Amino acid sequence: MHIVIIGGNGGIGFAMLQHTLERFPEAQITATFRRRRPQWPHPRVNWQSLDASNEDEVRRLSDTTDSVDWLINCIGLLHSAQQGPEKNINALNAEFFQHNMMVNTLPMLLLAKYFTPLLKRSTAPKFAALSARVGSISDNRLGGWYSYRASKAALNMVVKTLSIEWQRTLKHGTLLVLHPGTTDTALSAPFQANVPPGKLFTPAYVAQQLTDIITNATPEQSGSFLAYDGQTIPW
Ligand SMILES: NC(=O)c1ccc[n+]([C@@H]2O[C@H](COP(=O)([O-])OP(=O)(O)OC[C@H]3O[C@@H](n4cnc5c(N)ncnc54)[C@H](OP(=O)(O)O)[C@@H]3O)[C@@H](O)[C@H]2O)c1
Repeated sequence: MHIVIIGGNGGIGFAMLQHTLERFPEAQITATFRRRRPQWPHPRVNWQSLDASNEDEVRRLSDTTDSVDWLINCIGLLHSAQQGPEKNINALNAEFFQHNMMVNTLPMLLLAKYFTPLLKRSTAPKFAALSARVGSISDNRLGGWYSYRASKAALNMVVKTLSIEWQRTLKHGTLLVLHPGTTDTALSAPFQANVPPGKLFTPAYVAQQLTDIITNATPEQSGSFLAYDGQTIPW
């Protein structure tokens, strides 16, 4: 089994790496990082540098990969050093909006383009993206966070659309969009104050939940938007 974890150095991505290593003792794992190579050597882990918004880099990674059984996209952006999510439309900044689309949406398209042929070689290919409940249009009750919401809604559309294409071209594949719940990582750190007790999850718990979902998902469920507890989230 070959698992590729995009963003294996992120809060949830690293927990997914640790959990899948333990759960699948035969699996080889390719884990990517963007800025700093993690000082975390492991005999079954192949660390690769990847800016997943860069088409040449995604193509190069696919060129050096033979086959993939699971491809899990764990990267994302909610805030940068310069800007946080918008409280209202006055806070909109075109560059920040584009940055959100580049990190939250574009990588899934690039991964789909270059890794679908490799996933085809697997007997039970799974391709999952970490999205967010706030990317749901029908669940949007609070407003705000324009760039993040829009880029995650677009990510959801990418996966849904690809799942329709896969019904023709990769029938045995399973595509999922997953909401991890509020998880204690750098991404959520500035926004944890109002999280109800018991609703701020550890990355280890989320990794276990998401791995269960990916393991049990079948091609009939391809194109679903699922939360960490297995509940379907409306688009
Ligand atoms: N944490 C939560 O509460 C929560 C809630 C809902 C949804 N999510 C979603 O879950 C996913 C994981 O979040 P997290 O909490 O683990 O965030 P995190 O700890 O901030 O990790 C983000 C990851 O994204 C990577 N990344 C950013 N831009 C990249 C690019 N262009 N190319 C490659 N990698 C890039 C980062 O790599 P570098 O550090 O090397 O830049 C890092 O590995 C995200 O999609 C997020 O939207 C999280």
